[in-house]
Amino acid sequence: MTSQDEYLSEWVEESRSRGEHSVFLKGMEIVVPKDVFSPDPNLTYSSMMVLKHLRSDDVISSKVIDVGTGSGVLAIWAAENGAESVKAVDISVEALSAAARNIKSRNLEGVISVKRQSLLDGDSDFDYDLILANLPILMEQIVSASDIKLLKNASSHLTSKGKLYFASASFGKHDYLLKTAKEFFDVEIVKETRWGVDWFLYICSKRAV
Ligand SMILES: C[S@@+](CC[C@H](N)C(=O)[O-])C[C@H]1O[C@@H](n2cnc3c(N)ncnc32)[C@H](O)[C@@H]1O
Repeated sequence: MTSQDEYLSEWVEESRSRGEHSVFLKGMEIVVPKDVFSPDPNLTYSSMMVLKHLRSDDVISSKVIDVGTGSGVLAIWAAENGAESVKAVDISVEALSAAARNIKSRNLEGVISVKRQSLLDGDSDFDYDLILANLPILMEQIVSASDIKLLKNASSHLTSKGKLYFASASFGKHDYLLKTAKEFFDVEIVKETRWGVDWFLYICSKRAV
């Protein structure tokens, strides 16, 4: 068994056994109910990749959408670090309810709106400055249709200077996703290794036309 396999089986076991818990990261306390993705940095590093490498210039005064918001952690971080407005979307009602609760407890309802939405489907805004996407990183060796769809559609929802921050990892289809991202964007890749897993952040800028 590789250390990556060991990490994944421990992650599955720990995620299943956890009930509601609080996660403390980057000065935030986020409440995570059972069955909602936990951004706990002792358990996963994908949320942290975004939080750690998100540049102030890309957040301040920006119009943001957090696709697959889960507990709302990335949306909250953006709102508390200078974003003008944030839309937090997810397909899971449990996630949206957790996000709404965390947003309310931090008095951010005036900045963050919460909506049930799949990816950017039906989204009528085409002027986001920043799209954050830490979507499920599938462990099966199949390509996620959602990831591909988002990478293909994101560019048309961004302003000319807009950016997409997309999280990925070596247990997912990193090579294929990166190749796809490069078809639509100029991509800067950030990589960190934890628990035998390579965690990636693609910082995608719209190509000048
Ligand atoms: C890995 S979790 C990340 C949550 C959060 N962004 C974070 O960093 O902690 C992925 C989230 O994406 C949501 N999701 C999955 N497919 C989606 C889709 N098609 N559209 C929107 N959200 C989706 C899941 O319900 C889950 O809450």
